[in-house]
Amino acid sequence: MKFHQMDWQQRLATLAATTKLTASEQALFTTNYSAINEQMIENYVTSFPLPEGILPNIVINERTYQVPMVTEEPSVIAAASNGARMINMGGGLTATNVSREMIGQVLINEADFAAVTTLVAEQAPYLIEIGNAAHPSMAQRGGGLKHIATRDLGDGFVSVDLHIDTQAAMGANVVNTISEAVASYIKTQQVGNVVMAILSNLATTSLVTAKVALPFKAVAKAGFEAADIAQRIVLANQFSQRDAYRATTENKGVMNGIDAVVMASGNDWRAISAGIHAYAARDGQYRNLVTWSHDATTLYGEITVPMPVGVVGGSIGIVPLVQANHKLLAVESAGELAQVIAAVGLAQNLSALRALVTSGIQAGHMQLQLKSLALAVGATITEVPILVTRLQQMPHADMQTARQLLTEMREK
Ligand code: MEV
Repeated sequence: MKFHQMDWQQRLATLAATTKLTASEQALFTTNYSAINEQMIENYVTSFPLPEGILPNIVINERTYQVPMVTEEPSVIAAASNGARMINMGGGLTATNVSREMIGQVLINEADFAAVTTLVAEQAPYLIEIGNAAHPSMAQRGGGLKHIATRDLGDGFVSVDLHIDTQAAMGANVVNTISEAVASYIKTQQVGNVVMAILSNLATTSLVTAKVALPFKAVAKAGFEAADIAQRIVLANQFSQRDAYRATTENKGVMNGIDAVVMASGNDWRAISAGIHAYAARDGQYRNLVTWSHDATTLYGEITVPMPVGVVGGSIGIVPLVQANHKLLAVESAGELAQVIAAVGLAQNLSALRALVTSGIQAGHMQLQLKSLALAVGATITEVPILVTRLQQMPHADMQTARQLLTEMREK
């Protein structure tokens, strides 16, 4: 029997027989079984749990949000909370959806660009009708295929871009269904070789912006001048405008926050990450997503990112914890969720840059990393705080030291 033909019990039995899993490791697969998750993917064996925490009280457009975040990185939620604390001192963020449409592509080669453009210009209403007939419920709700553009990709390669309003959903299936229907019709029109139809994850028509204006005192830290910190945050950010190596790391910090909320809200974090990084390189150079500037009294931060998330569809209607997370978020629309996510990315970045230009990242991370280190060497939940305290007293806290201290603790 093939693996995918087996039921869950048979898959576990096969793994037990053919791998080196111990009995207690096998038990993990059973403990984390979820009947819902089993229905979601092929070859299901177990559910992989990640920690979820809350970023409390971030103020966006004068509303206070409790934001669920899913992450395995110890410092992420602490940093986001610290960023939100500073942001709230400036009265919170303002966020707006610049636009909200998805793009589906019909990709044609050996194409005559002029002929494709003429076809689209002359038959746009009909093409729109065909597209919307493929997913009538979306059109009935006021969404669906709205307009069509063409792009010349050179050497006979052409993209027909279908701009689709997916309403409250991220809408990958809707976009793909509509795009395939339009592609089928274009195939009959002899304007080139229609190779495929698929949504684009470079969601430049689903942009969201979040902004903050902070009095210098919001970033104050003992032992440092607040104005100096603000200026150094701007300086730090200027490296990312010039250097892809630094921009990648700064943006990774932004994604610490963004992906954590995207995951908690049951959205497709690969799609969001792919789109955001491509957007960061839109002028040919990979740059920072957040920009910081200042005047004599105030530090200004701004983030603009593509954020085609949904509040319905995909796993959102299926996974009970995701539904509970939506209740915590209490957003009323997909656009509002996008605003919250972008705002968290900005908060995350503020906290990281402030740490980097003051005491450095390790000082704040250490306490959290020591906890991970204690767990990694096998400390029990009751042993962790004692081991962390002992590790704090050591000049070097590494695996070897942690292991040694734990052994000594247990010997006593
Ligand atoms: C670590 O997860 C994120 C940072 O590296 C972000 C940054 O460097 O801006 C601290």
